[in-house]
Amino acid sequence: MEVELPIVLDRTSHVPLAAQLAGRLREAILEGTLRPEHTLPASRRLAAELGVSRGVVVRAYEQISGEGYLESRGSAGTRVAVRLDGRGMPAPKTTPKPAPVPKAMIDLTPGRPSGEPFRDPEWKAAWKKAIGEPVQVELPPALGMPALRTALARHLGASRGLTVDAGDIVITAGTSDALQLIATALRSRTGAPRVLVEDPGYPTARRVLTAAGALVEAIPVGEDGSEARRLNALGSRPDAILLTPSHQYPLGGRMPVQERLAVLAWAGRNHVTVLEDDYDSEFRHTRMPLPALASLPSNADVILIGTFSKALSPWLRCGYLVVRGAAGERIKRAREELDTPVSGMLQSALANYLDGGGLARHIARARRQYARRRALMIDRLGGRADLKLAALDGGLHAIIRIDERVDAREVVEEALKQGVCVVSLEGYFAEGGAENGLVIGYGAPSDLQLSRALDIITAIIDAKAKGNNAGSA
Ligand SMILES: Cc1ncc(COP(=O)(O)O)c(C=O)c1O
Repeated sequence: MEVELPIVLDRTSHVPLAAQLAGRLREAILEGTLRPEHTLPASRRLAAELGVSRGVVVRAYEQISGEGYLESRGSAGTRVAVRLDGRGMPAPKTTPKPAPVPKAMIDLTPGRPSGEPFRDPEWKAAWKKAIGEPVQVELPPALGMPALRTALARHLGASRGLTVDAGDIVITAGTSDALQLIATALRSRTGAPRVLVEDPGYPTARRVLTAAGALVEAIPVGEDGSEARRLNALGSRPDAILLTPSHQYPLGGRMPVQERLAVLAWAGRNHVTVLEDDYDSEFRHTRMPLPALASLPSNADVILIGTFSKALSPWLRCGYLVVRGAAGERIKRAREELDTPVSGMLQSALANYLDGGGLARHIARARRQYARRRALMIDRLGGRADLKLAALDGGLHAIIRIDERVDAREVVEEALKQGVCVVSLEGYFAEGGAENGLVIGYGAPSDLQLSRALDIITAIIDAKAKGNNAGSA
């Protein structure tokens, strides 16, 4: 049922029109005027009725969808997603005891973006166009479909300032596939390649590289990633080093340009292939991304590993490599020999989405959504002396460091019992020196869910700190 909304906006107010509209809609939901059986007017129609641009309505809908009050159902419109009892709701004639509602799990596991792109009409149109293309009965090209490689080269130029030739791009089934391919390509007659990884770092990368036959060694890194000083002091040289210079995973710092140049100089001198995991550089919240290692002058072979897992979804299993130098040639040869694991239909749809500007628009929307959740985290936790927030400059995860009175592993255990899935920072360390903290993925939950989960987590931390204080008194 579509509703008529008697909304009046105050054009003299300093509050932006989108924020006013979001506020009115939120109030209407909280008062029970807008209920789950209601469909909101299409953004174009409401914009015309209110005499505002469509962007104002879209931003307001996005805002309260992100808070969990609305859900977009594609061509079926935008619907109210929650029924809030209480203020303004008609009183029930009888007051039956409410049945206990099974608590839905709120999942804060990092690495999960919002599911929004799959509801994007432009995404659906990109697939429709791909399905309508002439039927293909052969294997897709091993290095990727030219249309997608060309669209990506353009996209990386505009979004990452990378001058890339489509011929330097290899389409992969995501980072895990890329790492297997690289391990295969680097395997020499002398045996397994030695790959240096960051500690703390991405546990999946350690697992996949090892399973693909590489000898993985961890090097301790600080918040801003690897330090050339430490690399220069290494006794022997690895075949490759895997780095996250734009947003150290999981600590969240970024490698300064001077350090980037020093790491590249070390790699060039020692013939070490640099693997630059650029997994979430689309999402910068405070500062511009620094230039990719792959774009800096150097005689080292740098392989940029990109993924659609954060900008779109890991459900797609699609990513890409930007390759150069002798290592790049070996990677391409290995891919030609192994064949591509990436569906041609998916590549075609992605190329359509990129070419039509859908991906850039989705990233802009998602950036606003993640920036809001980041602000929510700061708002809720930033003032506490016992918790230190980090990794908030970009991406879709944050770190909460907890003081030593409370064991983060116990918080994880208790949170799970109370319906919140969150992970401990400890699991990211390959060797000793683990820190006491939590890693919070804020991409997938709605604002409402994130807020609820933070309430639960902080209550657990408070209770444990109180219990431990009482115990030690
Ligand atoms: C550091 C890092 N790199 C890459 C990825 C993406 O991996 P994939 O492309 O295999 O989904 C993730 C996902 O969480 C990550 O945390």
